[in-house]
Amino acid sequence: MSDAVKEKDVAQNGAAQPDAAQKDTPKDAPKKDATNDAYAVNPLSEGLDSPNMPDPATVVIFGITGDLAARKLIAALYNLAADGFLPTPFTVVGVGRRDWTDDFLRTEMRKNVEKFSRSAINETVWKSFSESMFYAQVAFDKVDDYNKLGVKLGELEQARATRGNRLFYLSIPPDLYSEVAANLGAANLNKSAGYTRIIVEKPFGIDLDTARGLNTDLRKVYSEDQIYRIDHYLGKETVQNILVFRFANSIFEPLWNRDHIDHVQIAVAETVGVGSRGGYYDKSGAMRDIIQNHVMQVLTLMAMEPPVAWDADAIRDEKVKVLRSIRPIKPEDAEQYSVRAQYSAGTVAGEQVKGYLETDEITKDSTTETYVAFKLLIDNWRWAGVPFYLRTGKVLPKRVTEISIEFKRTPLSLFGAEAESLAPNRLILRIQPDEGITLRFDAKLPGQAVKLREVSMDFRYGTSFGVPTPEAYERLLLDAMLGDSKLFARNDEVETAWALMTNFLKGWAKEGVHQLPQYAAGTWGPEEADKWIERDGRHWRRL
Ligand code: BG6
Repeated sequence: MSDAVKEKDVAQNGAAQPDAAQKDTPKDAPKKDATNDAYAVNPLSEGLDSPNMPDPATVVIFGITGDLAARKLIAALYNLAADGFLPTPFTVVGVGRRDWTDDFLRTEMRKNVEKFSRSAINETVWKSFSESMFYAQVAFDKVDDYNKLGVKLGELEQARATRGNRLFYLSIPPDLYSEVAANLGAANLNKSAGYTRIIVEKPFGIDLDTARGLNTDLRKVYSEDQIYRIDHYLGKETVQNILVFRFANSIFEPLWNRDHIDHVQIAVAETVGVGSRGGYYDKSGAMRDIIQNHVMQVLTLMAMEPPVAWDADAIRDEKVKVLRSIRPIKPEDAEQYSVRAQYSAGTVAGEQVKGYLETDEITKDSTTETYVAFKLLIDNWRWAGVPFYLRTGKVLPKRVTEISIEFKRTPLSLFGAEAESLAPNRLILRIQPDEGITLRFDAKLPGQAVKLREVSMDFRYGTSFGVPTPEAYERLLLDAMLGDSKLFARNDEVETAWALMTNFLKGWAKEGVHQLPQYAAGTWGPEEADKWIERDGRHWRRL
């Protein structure tokens, strides 16, 4: 008897399903803790379908034995279950090359949830969640294994009544995406009785040609509306809030343009180094790892025009328009528009960090950048002449992601030279941590003289809402089950961003540089980056 059939009884007597109380818990209900099984549910809401409740489905995770599944995906699904957002019935099929059993999978995933979940394990939720988990061993290059997977999915769907809805998640090394997609197609796993969707993790290609190739390969098997290209930054609450902040408020829009804004800085500073990901990182570097995807996504949301509607295509049309308006940098100008660097040994938060070139799996003469700063210009009516300075780096002193909008100074100063030396007004959208928004402006220092000081008005998620923020992967998995692709990248978005970045990559490759500028781990990047922005008469904001 197959595992699926063995599970049939469990599914039919309902023991494997989350209980009704969890299903109807509203999103913003106070977070329950592991010891408090009974939480209040509004009796009037019972039986009402939540617009956020997906249809019964099977989520099939390729690469269940890997790091992303362990750290993020299983914890995200568990938290969706705990918060009552998973449909009833629901099935997870973990796919891997190793010889695991269902029981082994459940034990391993429990360890992962204990370690990485934002909420502690609730035994009632865990029981039904873990009983909905199954393992399938697949050699990724053997079509026959995919045929067997198809049979297993069919049996589970039959037993657990998930109506043929399937969400595949490719959490596997990127060089396997095309092959796995082709084999899924060969085994007819691109269609089913319900919906079939596929989530593809980043990196989506390593340059424009490979991204196009991957799009072509995926499109041979799946239609565009079945493909969900994930960028976990889009699942972050604060990134989603960029559009709400801009388009739900009337007071900022009149200022959001070249007449009032001097320049914009987007920074992603990380304290982590490349750790055990040297093999991947050395072929990637900061531009491919963070800028082409996460930073460009943040930039498009910050710079786009209001969409004609709150739907996926309207939003993504506007994002693509921003990308298409960015002035292409010719490869020969890459040097002038950017600064790259690599970290050398140093100390971050009291910990000794080895230099990049001394790290395992890094080639000794590598010129892969762990820090990059560069400038983009958006040639449209809103942004003409407003530079966007983007920077990211590993092993910097602090973990901060933020957008800083620096406004123009007043046309003349009434308050003398001291006032002029103060920083101009700034609006800071803090993506993480300490999520929030800060407006910096000048105020009169109390006293008989007119002296000015810079002060802040702050909004902080923590104090304003007092509810836990869901992890990005929770939101994105839920949206993919709901068929909402607003927070996923469309093919033209990915390719247009790659076209821009590929010019930098080509320019850097041509330079014949044998060593990059160095910055000690635990410092704010190379001196060259400070000098470079100062040439434009500007400074990096202190993070
Ligand atoms: C990943 C990168 O996409 O994003 C990592 O591959 C990086 O190198 C991570 O550390 C940062 O994500 P977050 O959510 O911690 O800002």
